[in-house]
Order: sequence, then C-alpha cells, then structure tokens
Amino acid sequence: MLKYAYLNSKYVKFKNAKVHIEDRGLQFADSIYEVVSFYNQQLIDFEFHIKRLKYSLKELKIKYVVNKDKLKKIFNKLIILNKLKNGIVYLQITRGVQPRDHCYKNNIIPNLIIYTINKKFNFPDKNFKGEKAITYRDLRWKRRDIKTVSLLANVLAKREAVRKNAYEAILIDKDKITEATASNVWIVKNNKLITHPANTDILKGITRESVKKIIKINKLQLDEKSFTIKQLYNADEVFITSSTNLVTPIIKIDTKIINKGKIGDISLQLATLYANCFINE
Ligand code: PDD
Repeated sequence: MLKYAYLNSKYVKFKNAKVHIEDRGLQFADSIYEVVSFYNQQLIDFEFHIKRLKYSLKELKIKYVVNKDKLKKIFNKLIILNKLKNGIVYLQITRGVQPRDHCYKNNIIPNLIIYTINKKFNFPDKNFKGEKAITYRDLRWKRRDIKTVSLLANVLAKREAVRKNAYEAILIDKDKITEATASNVWIVKNNKLITHPANTDILKGITRESVKKIIKINKLQLDEKSFTIKQLYNADEVFITSSTNLVTPIIKIDTKIINKGKIGDISLQLATLYANCFINE
C-alpha cells in the first residue's frame, strides 16, 4: 500500500521523503518534535501538543511560525491518505540546512516533517497490560522540558530495558526518579499519587497534564514532588503516562514486584477515565 508523508509544503510518497545530509537535525539534533495520537481518526489533545511545540521552538529560537489550523488539516489528511484508524502523527521541525557549523545562521529555513505510524494502544479492557521496567541512570542534558530529538541517552536506556525483557527504563538522577525514556512516571502510596514536578528535569507530558485534570476532578490526592528509587520500589502502584502508552501500569521494576504483579485500582481507574475522554467521543 502506498504511504504518504508531508515534507515542508508537499505530500510526498513515504519512500521519497528525504532531507539533506547537512540538515542540522541530523548533524546536531538541532530539532524538535511532537507525537500526537489519534483514535478512530480523531486527534487526541491536539491543542496541547501545539502549545508545547511552540514552547520548544521558542526555547531553541527556531524560526518556524506555527499555523495550528494548517497543521491540523495536514495531520487529518495524512491519517486518511494512509488509511489508518488508530496510531500516531509524528511531527519534526529541524532548524534547517547549512554548511556544517556548530553556530547556526539566522536566516536558514526550517524543515517540516510529518508522517503517521499505525499503533495499537494499551486500553483498559480485557487485554489491559501491566508492563515491566528497569531503572537506569539518567544521562540526559539539563533541558528535558524541551522536546528535542536529542534522544541518545533515552535510546541507550530503552535498549537496555528491551535487552532485559522489560518495556520501559525508569531514569534515575542523583537517587531521584525523573521520568522514563518516553513517558512520565507516577507512584501511588497509601492512596496518594506522586509524580516529579514539571521543571527543566522532565518533559511536561501532555498525558500527564490530562491525567492531572482527571485526578483533580475525582478529588484524588496528588503531590508533585520528586521521589527516590526506594519509594519507587515500595510503591503500592506504579504507572507511566504518554501519548503512546496512555496510562500503562508497571508491575515489575528490576527484580521488585509491584502490587503482587497485578494492575492496581488507581492505575485502572485513571486509565479508564483517561480512555473515556476520547473513546466515547
Ligand atoms: N514521548 N517524557 C519523555 C522523555 C517523553 O519522550 C514523553 C513522550 C513523555 C510523555 O509526554 P506526552 O504525554 O506528551 O506524550 C514524557 C513520545 C511519545 C515519544 O518520544 O515517542
């Protein structure tokens, strides 16, 4: 089946979608991205992803002017062209192409890359899955609030997780849990939720923000503060959130079994409430 991508101002065949070898995204990870999920061809939390996209561009002074309505049309058209029902839209904006130089020129033109990937989500139904995780040193730079493609530390951590038959790697920075390679991490202890505060040490996940709203509406208790590996191991429940994982329970971390290896009540409740936001639309 023919697959399409969107490159700069054109829909192109996926196999012909190419960028230049001196693209700064390729040479310096001088580039930002977003991952927006869609279910039944409906984009999830689109507006919030656009807001964060603008934030990442502004922080890196990448001169791309976001046209929200235009991007929405492109996203929706790609979903239809690629005949997908559920999946993700991947958007990346690189600073552009110039002769290799650490210092970027002011007048280069950013490259816009958009394409779709088919995906089956982990929904809280009869197949709802609790996953295994490992812990791994957080080797990333100090501006994790910007969604850049500078993901080598995440790649190495995730590879180690998969090598150990785990699904995610939970990252540890000076004995504190920050987040995971591609998701935010939450624990539940004595019915109280804890997650790392949204500062420059983590990415402020869009799913994290949606789950926070659900927590507030349902009058659950939440503390946004950092927690240790010991607290992680001793938690009653652990789960991760992201656009691709929605709310996914973690039932084993390293050799430590969480909640007797079962999906916890609060994890299930939040996964259900979050899924209901778009399943029933
Ligand atoms: N990753 N933390 C990190 C390091 C992430 O890469 C992600 C998302 C999140 C969760 O953010 P959100 O809820 O906005 O998806 C947290 C995407 C899905 C990825 O890199 O594929």
